[in-house]
Amino acid sequence: MSSPISSNAGLSATGIIQIGPISSRADALLAAQFKVTRLWEIADKSDYLARNGSHFLAAATSARHPFNAELISLLPAIKIIASVGVGYDAIDIGAARERGIVVTNTPDVLNECVADLAWGLILDSMRRLSAADRYVRSGRWTQAPFPLASRVSGKRLGIIGLGRIGNAIARRAGGFDMKTRYHSRSPKKDSSYAYESNLLALAEWCDVLVVACPGGEATRGLVSQGVLEALGPRGVLVNIARGSIVDQDALVTALQQGKIAAAGLDAYEGEPNVPKELIQLDNVVLLPHIGSATTETRTAMENLMIDNLTAYLNEQRTLTPVPE
Ligand code: 8YV
Repeated sequence: MSSPISSNAGLSATGIIQIGPISSRADALLAAQFKVTRLWEIADKSDYLARNGSHFLAAATSARHPFNAELISLLPAIKIIASVGVGYDAIDIGAARERGIVVTNTPDVLNECVADLAWGLILDSMRRLSAADRYVRSGRWTQAPFPLASRVSGKRLGIIGLGRIGNAIARRAGGFDMKTRYHSRSPKKDSSYAYESNLLALAEWCDVLVVACPGGEATRGLVSQGVLEALGPRGVLVNIARGSIVDQDALVTALQQGKIAAAGLDAYEGEPNVPKELIQLDNVVLLPHIGSATTETRTAMENLMIDNLTAYLNEQRTLTPVPE
């Protein structure tokens, strides 16, 4: 779907501004196709933008880089912010909309990889695969068998957020003969999965609860101490979305005190810094935000970001504007 942009758009004389490094491939592609100013390489960013910010009509970024209202104000001519990533909670969408700036993300192309990773975390957290690997490497297997874990097949799966990634996660549950229910702000039309309007009730019902909803202020702390206690001492939490959605202090306590059995995490409050209290625990799987981190998927995401920029600069339209 494309979104028409006012006809006064045009290629800026100074090309585009890239807010932060994306990948060596994406950075090189951008530099080959556009005149790129790399903001992160400029020592005095505020001074540079005060003098040159009005030159730029287009910005390239990724979900990892904050794009706050102050930065938007220092780019008075910006018309498009093209981001690599489906999540856009790092971008001040309200400030962008006030200025009529279109923001594009990279949905759909990463659904399957992120869903695959969610299942990797479900299997690892419940069958304790990483812990078992550590057990062998430590030599402890020569002393005693690895402790029993929990079966995955036939258990109950709860999903917070049945968007494109949540649906891909739910689809995979059939392969494990699992019953699936979901919670979101409102029921999804035509969904074959059972809707639970009350998150606490979903947490009480399910054996494994997967966080797959968007980050941002609307979902900050949604997985609270109460939700974790409802999930219970045999429950497992998996987060492949954003760290902000989970009360991380409550999660640490729940894991330390056995209020939940285990967790599988690919997103953290304050990442890439992970609290030592989590690192010290044996009942949590810790991944470095790699949900979409496959060659195929990141290539598709980066290409889509560039296609959005190209479509805007050449035809004043975009391919994947974030939803209103
Ligand atoms: C990032 C993600 O895009 O897509 C998202 O929202 O969280 C990740 O896939 C990735 O880390 C690129 O910065």
